[in-house]
Amino acid sequence: MTKMSRRATLLGLTVLGATGLATAWSRAVPAQAMQRPRNDLYACEGCEAIDERDPATLSASAILAGPEEPGERMHLSGQVFALDGITPVQGVVIYAHHTNIDGLYANGTAESEWSRRNGRLRGWVKTDAEGRYAFDTIKPAPYPDFTGPAHVHLYVKEAGRQTYYVDDVVFESEFKVDASYRATQEFRGGSGIVRLGKDSDGVLTAVRDIRLEPHPV
Ligand SMILES: [Fe+2]
Repeated sequence: MTKMSRRATLLGLTVLGATGLATAWSRAVPAQAMQRPRNDLYACEGCEAIDERDPATLSASAILAGPEEPGERMHLSGQVFALDGITPVQGVVIYAHHTNIDGLYANGTAESEWSRRNGRLRGWVKTDAEGRYAFDTIKPAPYPDFTGPAHVHLYVKEAGRQTYYVDDVVFESEFKVDASYRATQEFRGGSGIVRLGKDSDGVLTAVRDIRLEPHPV
């Protein structure tokens, strides 16, 4: 599945650029706080999948892929921040899904349309008091037709707000994470480009912090 859009016009960058010319007053205001809501914030294919679980049942971590899943183990985690980029936000639901090592959204169930379309490797979390979340999974592979980089789709929903997607998690210095990719980043929720590490158990580590977007209403 692809995103609904990848606009080259980046409100965030526009605002950041303007900040360079700012007055002393505006320098005191975080750039993100000055960002206007995106007109297409809620344009989203598959956002309804986030509602397939009751937020009351969710914890801050979930297993997307069990030990039986082929692939290199990966721990994807992060922290969700408010518009100021500083304040952690508790209770944000995050839905994640990604391809398997063959680049396919495979082995979904009949539970729902999005279970079938997103495949088996999907799950939900809800941020803790420090805004933290984590998924234990495997590292995805690019689509079989190699039309894009390996990626993890992420969708967020704040309490009482409409769901939106944020920039996919992709992996620095990997296939198709190049200048043309960077040129089309939307920076929804901040950049999705992460640098993989490895923990003492040999598990890949990826940190994708999310800065929530301003809402149009
Ligand atoms: Fe995808």
